[in-house]
Parts: sequence; structure tokens; C-alpha cells
Amino acid sequence: MVDIAQESFVATSLFFTHVKSDQERAAREWKQTFVDVKRDLDLNYCYRRVMNATTVSQIQSKLWIIEELNNLNIKPDCVALLGGWYGNFLVQLLIDEYDTFLIHNFEIDEDVKSISYKFNKRHKDRKKYKCDILDVMFKTIYEKQSKNGKKFDTIINTSCEHMFHMKRFVDLNGYGLSKPTYVLQSTNSNRYDDHINCVRSAEVLAEQSGLENILYCGSKRLHDDMKRFMVIGD
Ligand SMILES: C[S@@+](CC[C@H](N)C(=O)[O-])C[C@H]1O[C@@H](n2cnc3c(N)ncnc32)[C@H](O)[C@@H]1O
Repeated sequence: MVDIAQESFVATSLFFTHVKSDQERAAREWKQTFVDVKRDLDLNYCYRRVMNATTVSQIQSKLWIIEELNNLNIKPDCVALLGGWYGNFLVQLLIDEYDTFLIHNFEIDEDVKSISYKFNKRHKDRKKYKCDILDVMFKTIYEKQSKNGKKFDTIINTSCEHMFHMKRFVDLNGYGLSKPTYVLQSTNSNRYDDHINCVRSAEVLAEQSGLENILYCGSKRLHDDMKRFMVIGD
């Protein structure tokens, strides 16, 4: 049985070997997030979940995104994260790698908003990270982009196993989005109750998206033995 506190410590240490900017502030904000979530009576029921979001497999799957975007020479600038959870690893990695203008997380979990703002306070203060509560399978996101002054050029969903097929999102947002690049991840692991849409391969994930142009389609076995699939396309 994995000790989740030890696992989070290893994942955090590993993450900080990749952090390129404002390391001390990032470290203090991370420390404070764990302290606040543990102490705040309204949030401490999320403590285990925050630990579960801070594992070696979590950082491996996010580093994989950077690796494949770099291989394709794609540089995200204005990113919509769908179901981006606490954004603890990916927000920092994207900002460090591409100096992204904005990362906008669309989540259904109210607690995610405040906790993700704790992890990413430095980015929120500089208006590079924001989070809105919205069900991306029922509400459109495209109206949110004009307020930012830029269109979303990249849509990242590492939570496809938690949602309807991505084609639903693509159709819902229709021409409101101007042909962004999609980065999608899912898994075949049905060990969690909220994995309501597992897939058996990256090809099935691509099929579910209805994307016409597939630029990358691959799989990876993660540290926790979970198999993850990733599709990049437009
Ligand atoms: C367990 S987490 C992320 C897991 C994912 N494997 C990862 O590594 O990023 C899944 C997140 O998706 C969010 N979510 C699920 N369905 C959603 C929807 N329709 N719209 C927005 N967020 C959603 C949940 O609130 C949750 O925070």
C-alpha cells in the first residue's frame, strides 16, 4: 500500500526540479496550501484529495504533455484547462515552458477554485491563472475568451475519463472557438468510481473527440501502473 504523504513528498521534490521561475515563492505557496487545507475546517476533507493530486504519476502525465508539445513545436499561449483539478503541476510547467499569457481552468468543483488559487497564487496575482466554476459538457466556454483579449489556442483536458466524449464539447463550442489545438488524456483504469468514461486505447480517445487532424496518439504506463493515453490534434 502506497503511503500517500510520502508519495506527495517525492512528487513535490520531483516537481521542484522542474520549476524554473520564482522557486522560493512557489515553494512557500505550496507549503502554505498544504497547511491551509489541513487546518481549515471547511477544506480539510479535501486534504487526501490534494495529496492524490500530488503524486509521481500526476507529474509524469503532465511532463508528458510538455514533451509532446515540444516535439510538435506547439507553443500554447492562451490555454483552456477542462477539469484541470488543482492545477498544481500543469499551470507552473506551462508558464515556465511557454510563458503563456493565460491559463483558464473550467471546473465543476467549487473547492478546486480556492485550492488551485492557493497553489498558484503567484500566477493568479499576475493574472496568468484563473478558475471558473462551469460544467464544460453543458455550458460553452467560448464567451469567456473575449474578456481575456485573446482566443484560446489550446484546450487541455487531462480528465477525459471523468466526462462525456470530447466531441460533445467540440460541438457545443462550435465556431465560437477558432480551431484550437486539443490535448486530451484518458485511461483504461476503472479503479475509481468517478472514471465514467474509460477507453481501451489512444485511438478510441481520438475517435471520441471527433478531431479531424490527429498530430499525436500514444500511451504511457505511469508510476502507479496506470496506463494513460494521450491525443493531440485539431
Ligand atoms: C480527478 S480530477 C483529474 C484527474 C485527471 N486524471 C488528471 O490527472 O488531471 C477530475 C476533475 O475533473 C473535474 N470535472 C469532471 N467533470 C467535469 C465537467 N463536466 N466540467 C468541468 N470539470 C469537470 C472534476 O471536478 C475533477 O476536479
